[in-house]
Amino acid sequence: MEKLMIRGGRPLRGTVQISGAKNSAVALLPASLLAESEVVLDNLPQLSDVAVLSEILEDLGGKVTWEGDTIRIDPSSMRSIPMPNGKVKLLRASYYLMGALLGRFGEAVIGMPGGCNFEPRPIDQHIKGFEALGAQVTNDHGSIRISAKQLRGAKIYLDVASVGATINIMLAASRAKGSTIIENAAKEPEIIDVATLLNAMGAKIKGAGTETIRIEGVDSLHGCRHSIIPDRIQAGTYMIAAAATRGDVLIDNVIPKHMEAVTAKLQEMGVHVYEMDESIRIVGQPSYESVDVKALIYPGFATDLQSPMTSLLTQASGVSILTDFVYSNRFKHVPELMRMGANIRVEGRSAIIEGGPLNAAKVSAADLRAGAALVVAGLTVAEGVTEVTGVEYIDRGYDFLVDNLRRLGADVWRENE
Ligand code: EPU
Repeated sequence: MEKLMIRGGRPLRGTVQISGAKNSAVALLPASLLAESEVVLDNLPQLSDVAVLSEILEDLGGKVTWEGDTIRIDPSSMRSIPMPNGKVKLLRASYYLMGALLGRFGEAVIGMPGGCNFEPRPIDQHIKGFEALGAQVTNDHGSIRISAKQLRGAKIYLDVASVGATINIMLAASRAKGSTIIENAAKEPEIIDVATLLNAMGAKIKGAGTETIRIEGVDSLHGCRHSIIPDRIQAGTYMIAAAATRGDVLIDNVIPKHMEAVTAKLQEMGVHVYEMDESIRIVGQPSYESVDVKALIYPGFATDLQSPMTSLLTQASGVSILTDFVYSNRFKHVPELMRMGANIRVEGRSAIIEGGPLNAAKVSAADLRAGAALVVAGLTVAEGVTEVTGVEYIDRGYDFLVDNLRRLGADVWRENE
């Protein structure tokens, strides 16, 4: 086990390149198994979830080769075998194997997905979608068995605009007979990315990125080449870290449109933000105003950025209120920030943050984004060394974190625990 050591107080300066989006990659890899010939994915992030999924594709009989950040997947001799536990427990996104295996083979037997458990994360909307498409869903010795002789298109209204359920239904429905309409679909950019891949494979999906998605099922899907969109959460985290350290950072390989909610909030605080075609420059300022932030589904402020944003708000003068309308209790970073001297109170689904200086401390990341919050906080501390354990969570979402931060002038290193 390693820990991250941060000697803060240095403004971040320079350029950082953003990787391909984790939450796209973990859907695109399972999606590739719907094809019957080679799929090539470019711009993959170098993350553990990606490595585990590529191993799972091999376990299922796929031929997988890597070249830098490009993966080639030949799914022609894959089959659906039960995956009760083991690797599927290592990540949340293993639930996408359900929709993909169901679509291609008419059957999936998979253990309950693992991943960051900052609060209970149900998959009832995924199951409701599969059932609406005509699948039978049963409990098979603790695993979920989903099977259908023939999937049939259906109209599905999601009770919550779930990213995972929207993508999972798209995966299965792209091979169903007839047309499927998803109402109250999630609109996140990663959903458009998956639809773009599926359409390049021969699927007929319209409306991805809006609340109504129409899918005309097709008999088979073929290989293609696709480049993954940039990771808007990684980009947002570096934007926040640049502001928090009063730095001057060019965040490169981003889609500025995806960053609008965070850009607007940073500007409201007094951060200078300059948008270019594929990059954003953040110029930090000596003082910031407090703001209220509401984490919402896209295009609102991302829940995945509310934790690092909490750390930035400790640097504003006055009281900020941050409310998460996606997850009711995603605040595992708060007690750790308080160990660093932060003045934060959690009330219901809100964190009330009173600005003030932080101090170095030994803290522990309980999940990926809580970890990002602690790194941002550590970078702002003027004296001493902040020690962050639970680095394995942070590594799930931020590839080359230490290299990137060091290149930006931060004094950060890893040590064995
Ligand atoms: N929900 C249900 N039933 C369902 C599915 C979701 O009630 O069947 C609820 C959840 O409890 C939550 C809300 O709907 O309150 C949104 O959940 P969603 O399904 O959209 O989340 P997800 O697909 O499981 C993805 C990302 C998360 C990100 C959320 C919200 C992946 C692999 N994960 O999760 O990313 O927080 O969308 O944007 O795409 C992360 O990257 O750190 C992360 C946790």
